[in-house]
Amino acid sequence: MTDIRVSPHAHNFAACVTGLSICEGMSLSTVEQLRSAWQRYQVLYFPNQPLEHPQLEQFSEAFGAYGHDPFVSAVDGHQHILEVRREPNEDVVPFGSSWHSDWSFQAVPPSATILHAKIVPPVGGQTHFADGIRALESLPTELRKAIEGRSAIHSARRPYSHEGYRAGGKRTSMKITPSEDAWQTQSHPIVRTHPESGRQALWLNPVYTLAIEDMNEAQSSLLLERLFAHMLQTTFIYRHQWLENMLIMWDNRSVMHCAQGGYAGYRRVMHRTTVAGTVPV
Ligand code: SIN
Repeated sequence: MTDIRVSPHAHNFAACVTGLSICEGMSLSTVEQLRSAWQRYQVLYFPNQPLEHPQLEQFSEAFGAYGHDPFVSAVDGHQHILEVRREPNEDVVPFGSSWHSDWSFQAVPPSATILHAKIVPPVGGQTHFADGIRALESLPTELRKAIEGRSAIHSARRPYSHEGYRAGGKRTSMKITPSEDAWQTQSHPIVRTHPESGRQALWLNPVYTLAIEDMNEAQSSLLLERLFAHMLQTTFIYRHQWLENMLIMWDNRSVMHCAQGGYAGYRRVMHRTTVAGTVPV
């Protein structure tokens, strides 16, 4: 019987999970325990979990089918694992270093992202997470009214269209392929209801959310600016410090994240999978 311990951070946003060894496999009851902790805390991290690719795949598959990763190539021989790599001599911004929710531009964005640390720099390289549930709960009435029943337009064009990619500067270590597909748009509700827990979250992000639907451009930009400023207040943010062999899974349905730099001269390597989600409602 696995004796899992779950230690939450402030405001019950993010929790450290110990007492299990993922590489030994997980029983159905362990997976259910983790799933319920994940719904409650939104971000779970597991220190000291050395994993090879097949074990990372097994962990990911325990939570559902894989998501579809466009624009970024997988590692050789493992079509669902992406490598997030930055070399010591790279002077480009790190992958994922603006606030976003993974692949929110898709019609069916991933529920989870799972990231495993292989090489961690001695300084910098944190990942920050923003809690969309508390952000919604504390949204001023006036802003709440302004988004009532509204949807927003999401698209991958800023980072992954040819124009956007060029503007973002050269990347040497990530296998990114910009595409015309990045111009496609999706409309998603601004207040998203979690399909399993029923909890509601403010579900927008500065990278992929272009505009508020059915609102003129100036009003939409102003409102988005105010919403992002609200969502990114310090009180909603958990700053994750990595250690080698740490695994983390987060819920893209209620959480934004942002990779930090600050480790010029050092290598950072992570392996990542996504778990398929459902149509946002
Ligand atoms: C990502 O956005 O998936 C990258 C996060 C990180 O490397 O910290």
